[in-house]
Amino acid sequence: MSVMSKLMAAVYDPVMAATEEACLGEWRSVLLDQAEGEVLEIGSGTGVNAPYYHADKVVFTEPEAPMRHKLEAKFEGLDLPYDWTVEPIDAQQLPFETDRFDAVVATLVLCTIPDPAAALAEARRVLKPGGKLIFLEHVAAEEGSDRLKWQKRIEPIWKVCAGNCHLTRDTEATIREAGFEIDDLKRESMRKAIPFVRPTIRGIATNR
Ligand SMILES: C[S@@+](CC[C@H](N)C(=O)[O-])C[C@H]1O[C@@H](n2cnc3c(N)ncnc32)[C@H](O)[C@@H]1O
Repeated sequence: MSVMSKLMAAVYDPVMAATEEACLGEWRSVLLDQAEGEVLEIGSGTGVNAPYYHADKVVFTEPEAPMRHKLEAKFEGLDLPYDWTVEPIDAQQLPFETDRFDAVVATLVLCTIPDPAAALAEARRVLKPGGKLIFLEHVAAEEGSDRLKWQKRIEPIWKVCAGNCHLTRDTEATIREAGFEIDDLKRESMRKAIPFVRPTIRGIATNR
């Protein structure tokens, strides 16, 4: 268990609090309201999404032990109105059968997973035909912008300090390349966040 991983788990909720209040909480609520049936969440972190679900069952997955322990401690105090489990799973290799889930949820995680294309291929495999990928991700700024230049400069050190979080990923393209059809896509600035993580995309994609 690395020191960085423990540090991330300790500071994640306090560091994100102002952004959750300013925008993320509302975005999570609207998106996760659309997660029905049996849901798989990848990279659940400290379990911030848990209060927003109205699904039948949610399988929360998180490979990093410190994050997972935070999540488990938080869930002890919550009376969640759905069935749930917590599993120590890497999103790039899901130990679930094909066509199992009604929805897969990825929030602020495709920036961090070493191979997001592999994770999306796995998400697609375990989703039923017509199942939904629900996503909320921070992404690369607009091509040619000063913000993108800064993201590129800062990314090498940011990745080391922030648990392999990348600043310049074109996650919309990666979702499409994985074979999903994006039905609904919003681009918005993540208010109260550090400027170079502000550009976000969120929406629903279908496994057709
Ligand atoms: C920035 S946190 C986001 C947590 C949460 N999803 C949220 O919305 O607040 C990114 C999470 O992705 C997890 N992660 C990193 N590599 C992963 C992988 N290969 N598979 C699944 N999750 C991973 C990290 O441990 C971390 O908890």
